[in-house]
Amino acid sequence: ETVEWEAASYDMGGHDTYMHKEISEQADAVDRVLRGRIDDKFSTVHLGGLNLDAREARGIRRVKILGCGTSYHAGMIGASLIEGLARIPADSEPASEFRYRNPVVDPDTLYIAVSQSGETYDVLAAVQELKRKGARVLGVVNVVGSAIAREADGGVYVHAGPEVCVVSTKCFTNTVVAFALLALHLGRIRDLSVADGKRIIEGLRKLPGQIQEILEGEEDIKKLAAEYADAKSMMFIGRVRGYPVALEASLKLKEISYIHAEAYPASELKHGPLALIEPAMPTVAIVPSDSLLEKNRAAMEEIKARSGRILAVAHQEQEKADHTILVPKNEDELDPILMGIPLQLLAYHTALALGRDIDKPRNLAKSVTVE
Ligand code: AGP
Repeated sequence: ETVEWEAASYDMGGHDTYMHKEISEQADAVDRVLRGRIDDKFSTVHLGGLNLDAREARGIRRVKILGCGTSYHAGMIGASLIEGLARIPADSEPASEFRYRNPVVDPDTLYIAVSQSGETYDVLAAVQELKRKGARVLGVVNVVGSAIAREADGGVYVHAGPEVCVVSTKCFTNTVVAFALLALHLGRIRDLSVADGKRIIEGLRKLPGQIQEILEGEEDIKKLAAEYADAKSMMFIGRVRGYPVALEASLKLKEISYIHAEAYPASELKHGPLALIEPAMPTVAIVPSDSLLEKNRAAMEEIKARSGRILAVAHQEQEKADHTILVPKNEDELDPILMGIPLQLLAYHTALALGRDIDKPRNLAKSVTVE
């Protein structure tokens, strides 16, 4: 499968930065990764390039996802989707660490390499090492025909279109959606029910409209960015599905605003980072309306008791928070896809308020093709 990238897509199309253009394109990008893949008859999805038949899919006992930076974070959400929907133990690890620890390569493990560029050296080297040891490696890659896509045994193209800004936004979102498709596909070959398959498909179909709705709230997020831009340091917290969202949002803020940011599971606050909380260190809390809502509220209470300011990203107004960014609710499994988007805008407007060079942050390159 190939998607042609026209020269026109490299145009800024009226936006001041590529980052803003790429954030704004996400409803279309998600539409593209879904297109032609949903099978309503069997409540599943078809992934043409996977190169993994049903019998092989049933034999997988573990999934190990490898990527760097934002792709590693997308892989964390991918792992929770695969574990949740296909009930296969799964985790994500930085490829750069994996390749240096002489990992046990297990024939029943499916390895998945994640990369926007398809050229990140640490990921490519991990794939080559895995292949050398006889492992099966799939790619979840954006750039068609890139080195990692060529080296992998098969995979899922992310179809985000060209991403020019050094920091990844639309590709992160599309990568997570690609993982949702893969998880649904594996789930429906294994034990996921027709009803659950339908539920996830309906959720996936809602995403582009809900993303558009979030993007329409940009002016409000811009005002919030102005309120928090004076912070020297920010804390990001989330639990389980919300934790990778917190990690990715804190990376985005660091990369383009140069504000120091930490991301922690909300459950870990009391084991140390609570000591950092004071009025000068605001917290961004990921607070979905799911089974962990009360736990997340309790964490916000802890922060308030230490006079911390809180900006919540939530499905309903949060009393404990100083500000709440509301996002539309989807299925619990798909909520992380939506909750990250307002925080891309928050990082963007914070960096803009601070006068940073958004498309070319200092010390960073778009693809790291060296060790
Ligand atoms: C994202 O904002 C970063 N600039 C960076 O972490 C990036 O995700 C990482 O270098 C991996 O790149 P890749 O997806 O092209 O492999």
